[in-house]
This record gives sequence, C-alpha cells and structure tokens, in this order.
Amino acid sequence: MKISVFGCGYLGAVHAACMASLGHEVVGVDVIPEQVAALSRGEAPFHEPGFPELLRSALDTGRLVFTTDVAAAADAVVHFICVGTPQRRGENAADMTYVNAATESIVGVLKPGDLVVGKSTVPVGTATRLADRVQEVEPGARLMWNPEFLREGHAVSDTLEPDRLVYGVRTGDAAADTVAVLDGVYASMLAAGVPRRVTDLTTAELVKTAANSFLATKISFINAMAELCEAAGGDVTELADAIGMDKRIGRSFLNAGLGFGGGCLPKDIRAFMARAGELGADQALSFLREVDAINMRRRVRMVDLAREECGGSIVGRRVAVLGASFKPHSDDVRDSPALSVAAQMQLQGASVVVTDPWAIPNASKKWPDLQFVETAEEALAGAELVLVLTEWPEYVELDPAAAKTMVTTARVLDGRNCLDPEAWRAAGWRYRALGRRDAPAAV
Ligand code: UDX
Repeated sequence: MKISVFGCGYLGAVHAACMASLGHEVVGVDVIPEQVAALSRGEAPFHEPGFPELLRSALDTGRLVFTTDVAAAADAVVHFICVGTPQRRGENAADMTYVNAATESIVGVLKPGDLVVGKSTVPVGTATRLADRVQEVEPGARLMWNPEFLREGHAVSDTLEPDRLVYGVRTGDAAADTVAVLDGVYASMLAAGVPRRVTDLTTAELVKTAANSFLATKISFINAMAELCEAAGGDVTELADAIGMDKRIGRSFLNAGLGFGGGCLPKDIRAFMARAGELGADQALSFLREVDAINMRRRVRMVDLAREECGGSIVGRRVAVLGASFKPHSDDVRDSPALSVAAQMQLQGASVVVTDPWAIPNASKKWPDLQFVETAEEALAGAELVLVLTEWPEYVELDPAAAKTMVTTARVLDGRNCLDPEAWRAAGWRYRALGRRDAPAAV
C-alpha cells in the first residue's frame, strides 16, 4: 500500500520505517529539513536500539523516502498523523499546533477513498473534530484513531509486535470499509496474532491516556510506599516483590526510585487533567494531581538524601552522577529525573560531574553549566558521593570493588534501586536508596 507518515520524530520515523519493512511504499513528511536529510542518509536522529539497522534496510529497498514536500504524499491512500503533542508553555494542556498543522497539510492532498489515521496522543474530542475537518474538505475520505503505545528503547518491537492494536472509528461512517483498509496496512501483524480492538473515536483516544495514567499511577503508588517504608523502616523492593506476586497486581511498573519522566507520562497525565477540567469531570482525575506530586517529590528527596549523606551540606562536594537520560536505552532527556537531580545539586553548590552512554549531547544542550564526561571511570574519579540515577546496564554491572579504588569517599545513592546492596556494602561502600533500609536486613 502507498502510505504517508506526517511527522518524522520518534514516533513517525519509527512508524515509517516499520511500515516500509512490512512491504508498504512509504513517504515520511516533516517540516524540519535537517531531520529529513539525516533520515534520508540513513542516520537516526535519536538513539533507539534496532532503529538505525531497520531504517537503512528500509531505505535500501527503495520503498521508504523522507521529504519536506507535502505534495509527495498525494499518491498515498493512507496518511498517518505522527506529530508530537507537547505540554503547552505555562499550562497543563497539550499543544495541538503540530496536529492541526499536519491535518491541514493532509487535507490538501486528500482524494476520495483516502484514510487519515491519527496516532498522536491527543486530548479526547480531537479525533471527532479532525474527522469533521477531513470530511468537510473531502467527503469521500475518512479518519480513524489508532493510538500508539510504543516505549522508547523498545520502539521497533512495540510497533511491529504491539500488545494490541486499537482502532477508533466513527460509528456508521463506512466503518467496515475503513477497518478493512487499516487491516490491510497491518495485515502481517494481524496474521501473526496481534489482537485488535475496534471502538469509537472517543474511546480510542481515551485508551491511550488511560493506559499512560495507569502506568504513572502504578509508579507513584510504589513510590508512595517507598516514602512509607522510609518513615517506618521497611524495604520497598521487598514489598514490591511480594505484592507483585499477586497476579491481580503484577510486578511490572512497580520499580520504586526517582520516578517517571520522559516526553510522555508527565505531560500526558497533565493534559488529561486539563481536558477533564474542560469536560467538567475534573474530580474524576484529581488523583492524578497526587500522582504527579508524589513523582516530583522523589527528586527533592534524592537531593535531601545526598545532603544528609554529606553531613548536612553539598556545597563544594564532588558528586558523580551516573545517568542523564530519563530511562536506559534512550538518549531522551525530556523531563529526565536524573538530569533534574543533577542540575538541582549543581544549583545548590555541589560540584557535579555527569556521565551517560548516549544522552550527553542532549543533556549538555539543556544544562550547559553541568560538567559532562564520557565514562563512568572519569565521573567516579575523586568523587565524594556517587549517584546512580539511570539504570543503564553498564552502571548496574559496575564492579563495586574496582569503583571503590577510584572515588575519594565510597558512598553511593541508588536512585533506581538497581544495584545489589549486599555486594556494594561487602565491597566497603555506604549504600543508600530511596525506600530501603540504610543497613542490611536482619535476616
Ligand atoms: C511510556 C509508555 O510506557 C508507552 O506505552 C507510551 O506510548 C509512551 O509513554 P516511555 O515514556 O518510553 O513510554 O517510558 P516507560 O518505559 O513507560 O517509562 C517511563 C518512566 O517511568 C521512565 O522514567 C522510567 O524510568 C519510569 N519507571 C518505569 C519507573 O520509575 N518505575 C517503573 O517501574 C517503570
């Protein structure tokens, strides 16, 4: 099938390359010439495992092209909207500028029978408004909503082997025909057994924001338990392991620590609250305010813990920060808890040295005043306090005995509960973590 993908950022670039790998002819359209040029050369503009290889092999087939020219999408019969919906400056609501602009570009090339498919995360009600706009300009075209659930670091597999496909269609609006067209796009995935749910436009939009809100709530729940554990002297990791064995609860997304960040969960729960307010249903989501507050408190607590460990003041202390990205296997530093803690400590007078395997270029653009080094060894050299803030495998696997020889004072704060406390203590380190005992367990 001939497909266009509007927006070639994280979501769109991966989606375009994945669709080409399924055998479709794909044109990716973006307004940023540098992004288009890099992708056309086979260079991934962000770090995503498996994506550069997929991109290059798709380009080699000749079935994938990138352009800034909207007219190149005129031959396509399915047009995906994959642009971002960032948080509006100074507000909780989502900024719809890019979604609106992409839709206007698409309606300029629509033909009867074309299908527009929204994938961006949008405030509920957007899809109906855009469906009206599509049919106002081209009555023979239709719009569906097909939210994405991809995680950074797993974007390729989440696109090609998702847990489910959700199709939002307008009831009675040639629904069966539009479903059949999208089934054609995802034919091989459906044949491989990926389940799909067909629902209305509104529910499809809500599925995405509800899923992200649930994940954020799960993380903040366990972080609230971490606060309780600290107050009462319990251990949040043991607690998570034990409650997670209950099949109704499950262990995933119960890792306590610095909390959630990135380009999705924080802004999506805020936009959801803002939209609920517009709909007169703000009470239904007032718990998300608490979810957000618990999450932000973790960062403050981490800085406080560092101060406590340094005897009441971090001024002038040499601090090694391992990790800057919001999570491992990503170079994304948007709302990164790690970078936020590093910056706070620097602002409060510590001498902070940050390292990260992939995120230094992005992190140094955001916080040019922080000192960045390439390796953990350089960061550890002479450190009086070590903070592990992103659980990259290279930090989780650090040898505590070797690391001890590099630092001035063997004190480590594990912001992601990712190190083995026994091993670090056995090697002579003072080990502290959020929500955990500050001494070994009695048993
Ligand atoms: C998320 C959703 O998972 C995805 O479905 C949606 O499409 C986009 O938003 P992503 O932002 O890539 O994906 O990251 P995710 O893996 O969900 O992690 C989000 C944040 O939560 C990270 O900062 C991570 O470190 C943190 N997290 C995750 C925890 O603190 N504890 C956990 O147990 C899990």
